[in-house]
Amino acid sequence: MAEDLLIPKDTTREEMYASLYPQLKALTDDEPDLIANMANIASALKETFGFFWVGFYRVAGDQLVLGPFQGTVACTRISFGRGVCGTAWKEQRTILVPDVDLFPGHIACSSLSRSEIVIPLLQDGVVRAVLDVDSDEVNSFSEVDVRNLEKISSLIIF
Ligand code: SME
Repeated sequence: MAEDLLIPKDTTREEMYASLYPQLKALTDDEPDLIANMANIASALKETFGFFWVGFYRVAGDQLVLGPFQGTVACTRISFGRGVCGTAWKEQRTILVPDVDLFPGHIACSSLSRSEIVIPLLQDGVVRAVLDVDSDEVNSFSEVDVRNLEKISSLIIF
């Protein structure tokens, strides 16, 4: 496919995800490289929605290690069960945080991050990475984001 994303503007986030998904599927389908696919997905989400920070952390031993991302410099390593990312890993479930100030143990890589959503990526029932999407506004995410970001995350094959 061409490398330019075609995303309708001035429409709902649901419709933007609906337009984005097949383009990301085409971009990742024939590409086996994990890092390349994570990098393009992070870029596409940042470009499409203007999120403050979008990126992946990969499981390495007992820590998450920073992977491909778009946004400001971030924490390099996060321990199991720590912060939103470490909790999503431990509990093997998507975590939506409407206001990071109200999440006990939130790791503030940037003081500008105000709400976030973290999705665990599994292989054979084991978490291998997480997708972390941050906004600089509270209450930025809804079930629309949960559903669509989980669908996009499933494009990552380990
Ligand atoms: N907010 C995350 C840390 C990662 S950064 O925001 C990029 C957390 O509490 O897990």
